[in-house]
Amino acid sequence: MNAKTITINPVTRIEGHAKITIHLDEAGEVSDTRFHVVEFRGFEKFCEGRYFGEMPQITARICGICPVSHLLASAKACDAILGVAIPRPARLLRELMHMGQLAQSHALSFFHLSAPDLLLGYDSDPKLRNVIGLIALHPDIARRGIRLRKFGQEVIQRVAGRKIHPDFTVAGGVNKVLKISERDQMLSELPEARENARFALELLKGYQHHHREEIDGFADFDSSFMGLVQPDGSLEHYDGKLRFCDGFGNILQDQLNPASYLEILAEATEPWSYLKFPFIKAQGYPEGIYRVGPLARLNVASKITTPRANAALKEWRAEGWRIRTSSFYYHSARLVEIVYALERIEQLLNDPDITGTDILVTAEPSRPEGVGVIEAPRGTLIHHYWVDESGRVEKVNLIVATGHNNLAMNRGVLAVAKKYVKARQLQEGMLNRVEAVIRCYDPCLSCSTHAVGQMPLQIELIDADGVTLECLQRVE
Ligand code: MG
Ligand code: NI
Repeated sequence: MNAKTITINPVTRIEGHAKITIHLDEAGEVSDTRFHVVEFRGFEKFCEGRYFGEMPQITARICGICPVSHLLASAKACDAILGVAIPRPARLLRELMHMGQLAQSHALSFFHLSAPDLLLGYDSDPKLRNVIGLIALHPDIARRGIRLRKFGQEVIQRVAGRKIHPDFTVAGGVNKVLKISERDQMLSELPEARENARFALELLKGYQHHHREEIDGFADFDSSFMGLVQPDGSLEHYDGKLRFCDGFGNILQDQLNPASYLEILAEATEPWSYLKFPFIKAQGYPEGIYRVGPLARLNVASKITTPRANAALKEWRAEGWRIRTSSFYYHSARLVEIVYALERIEQLLNDPDITGTDILVTAEPSRPEGVGVIEAPRGTLIHHYWVDESGRVEKVNLIVATGHNNLAMNRGVLAVAKKYVKARQLQEGMLNRVEAVIRCYDPCLSCSTHAVGQMPLQIELIDADGVTLECLQRVE
């Protein structure tokens, strides 16, 4: 076997800076894989010494892709330090912005990042296998994706004042009342968004029907799942308590106060990645692997409080499935969650308090620490701050969705590489399937590395001796 390193560069359909290495044994078979995060900005240290009330604005700059999620988790941690419950209109407005973010982020992931693989094929010409190719070949689908994403973005904009408003969400509430005209505008745009979400769900259902076997076995492995649920076990994204289930759907832990996450989770490190590897303490490392995000949320939830999304969940669970374990089902879970987000947006807009003017409480810091946890589009997002008596931040711990899923992405990449990568007749489509595992999880590498901007993910194929002979390059 000749030593071989294959680099695909750039592979830009995920956000951030990382690489995958595929290691071959002497016989040229895949022996190991690693998903490395190769850059780190040290955001937690950077926050030390700042006044806690500044944290939402500071942490919103962690990531240019998910500032809304950081704003919300951070503001919740700050509320906890104040020891206050925020006024109901503020609570509703935060969740409304959150649902806009859920819809736009999921629409981006499905239509822009993953639909090219599904509609054009994993083995299709990589020059066309992107959103530009999608627009050329399936203009109606691309247009619906763009419109759906735009709806979510506009919800954020109308609620927060502009697309990424750094001081909308603050300790104790929010800074802007929603106008009746803004509410009515959103309500009038909902039917089209709903139709586009329904269309996407049907589209994916059709795809799944024709690719059942590949899908069910795609990066399918045993793990636990974690997500927030309401007191009755319903799907939840903004408040709620943590629930864990195992790979068969048995509930392992329920109604755990998210502020107690350190009782359940610990973080391991590996020398080859800057991103830590959280795991379930009781099960040890790496056996305590768990997943978060859309698939995990649907797996842990008993039901969904809105009718269309709940019907979609029931259908998803038909055919004897209690939960789904193939990583592919992140895509379908994402679409069910878009349906939910739109229904929830309608409920929130129709709540009389949504235009209420009681949106902020002021108080002095009264607790030495605060934890804010939300279900960001990509999964559970934890902000934990420790402060001194004057409210100065002494220590910060952040765990982002991509961190929770770190072990799982590594496991999934290994499974798919072993199945598809044949080093002797290497084709780009094989490596694209490896990359597609990562896209199922829709990681935000910008969050995880705290690095600014988008950087490519590389895929390298390394033999037992580790010498580069070949280099494949993809240009988008
Ligand atoms: Mg951390
Ligand atoms: Ni991010």
